[in-house]
Amino acid sequence: TDRYAVFGNPIGHSKSPQIHTLFAKETSQAISYEAILAPVACFEASLRQFITEKGRGANVTVPFKEQAFALCDELSLEARLAGAVNTLTVMENGRIHGDNTDGLGLVADLKRQMGSLENLEVLLVGAGGAARGCILPLLQTGIAKLTIVNRTQSKADKLATTFAEFGNVTSLCMEELDQAYDLIINSTSASLSGDVPNLPVKTINANTVCYDMMYGKDVTAFNAWAKKNGAKQIIDGLGMLVGQAAQSFKLWRKVEPNVEPVLNALRRLP
Ligand code: ATR
Repeated sequence: TDRYAVFGNPIGHSKSPQIHTLFAKETSQAISYEAILAPVACFEASLRQFITEKGRGANVTVPFKEQAFALCDELSLEARLAGAVNTLTVMENGRIHGDNTDGLGLVADLKRQMGSLENLEVLLVGAGGAARGCILPLLQTGIAKLTIVNRTQSKADKLATTFAEFGNVTSLCMEELDQAYDLIINSTSASLSGDVPNLPVKTINANTVCYDMMYGKDVTAFNAWAKKNGAKQIIDGLGMLVGQAAQSFKLWRKVEPNVEPVLNALRRLP
């Protein structure tokens, strides 16, 4: 049995152990997957101990993704551009490979729910770590254009400049927005405090799909706002969570699990 884990702080509410255990069952892989609460100041020591104790790979969540990025011996392009790592793989030679599957998980979920993303006008709200991690995978889907807005505009400008060489990406200030988008993705943490970013309602029309990377028992604040303002469809981030897990599982086990049964199981759980 190969050993995997997720590191975070807090970690008690992580769904990753359930998700990976279901993936393992579905694909008949002999793995164990546990949640490890690393002290805030001791992520690296905690990870190295896990590796000494035969850990083969790990997921990393808040607040350790940047520290994970810093300690890797090698990085995927996604991880390098994201500046953050959510998936660590211990290689045969003991080196640590870092990847970031958050963006691929988002894109996989979008395609599952919307079909092709080709030629869509996409608005990305927020310019923190969550936004940064999904820009490259979004640009690689064939969307027409990615527009980034953020409460602090300078951060949106900086991301647009960083990713300009990978596709059609620009930034605007919120007040400059004056068209409806095919897809609006909320990557801000505003929903955590019940807030909604200050978007003009004309960004939404009857064809707009709104996606909140957050999820919860109730409809998120952003999705409630989107629905009220006439969005065609609202989607929460549970599918992204399961999607990023599926991409990590594939990196480790070379087999891609089916996300649908796992999503159905999670939706049924409290
Ligand atoms: P994460 O890794 O989750 O992206 P982060 O890097 O701290 O976390 O970024 C949080 C993002 O949510 C930022 O874009 C932040 O906007 P600022 O750059 O202006 O701080 C955004 N955000 C958080 N609370 C918000 C709120 N109440 N309204 C609008 N945007 C908010």
